[in-house]
Amino acid sequence: MKKLLHIIATPRGSESRTLSVSKAFLDVFKTKYPECEIEELNLFEEKLPDLTVKKVNGKYVLLSGKDLSGDLKESWKEIVSFIERFLYADSYLISTPMWNFSIPYRLKHYIDIILQPKYLFQYTPNGPEGLAKGKKMAIITSRGGDYSAEDFRKFDLQTPYLYTVFNFAGISDIVFVNAQPMDAMGPEIQAKKIKEAQAQAREIAKNF
Ligand SMILES: Cc1cc2nc3c(=O)[nH]c(=O)nc-3n(C[C@H](O)[C@H](O)[C@H](O)COP(=O)(O)O)c2cc1C
Repeated sequence: MKKLLHIIATPRGSESRTLSVSKAFLDVFKTKYPECEIEELNLFEEKLPDLTVKKVNGKYVLLSGKDLSGDLKESWKEIVSFIERFLYADSYLISTPMWNFSIPYRLKHYIDIILQPKYLFQYTPNGPEGLAKGKKMAIITSRGGDYSAEDFRKFDLQTPYLYTVFNFAGISDIVFVNAQPMDAMGPEIQAKKIKEAQAQAREIAKNF
């Protein structure tokens, strides 16, 4: 393993429950893989390019199987640099809270930037093919409520969404750790569930 990209999708820094679980993962990961470079991509600090009409037009050129040139190529430089930064890693840690049953808008923005034809997927006669193959991903989330019971699973749009997006991009090795409930049952349950999620995250990091 050469490089882990840690994608942070909470604005709460040291207050973040999600990051307290991710820290447990990273502490073990760093000991186990001391040679692995770790890069942080904080989506609430980084300036993400807007998807203007020109940039969206570029996507349709790529979808038609052609390459970008001239003006469009120029306007895609920033997008390509985010994609290259993503593809350069061979493993990923995503730290994200649940926001409105799914993901924070900055993470959605990032996904809209990097999930591009020619780079992360291509259409073939047999259907779409993901191009980010042979990579691993751990997704650590925390939620105010608890969506683990059968009756509540349907409200969790975060897990299936993130799995679908990154699996579509070719990543088949995706594991989730969810700290829940963080708000609904009071501080004692919160502390207990964070500890449980940290233990789970440490186990995953050992064999990542
Ligand atoms: C804008 C916003 C939307 C939220 N939406 C949900 C939600 O739909 N379901 C839920 O269980 N918790 C929701 N929460 C609560 C967070 O998921 C929870 O507090 C989480 O632990 C925050 O993680 P963090 O401390 O890493 O930022 C929301 C919080 C915010 C700020």
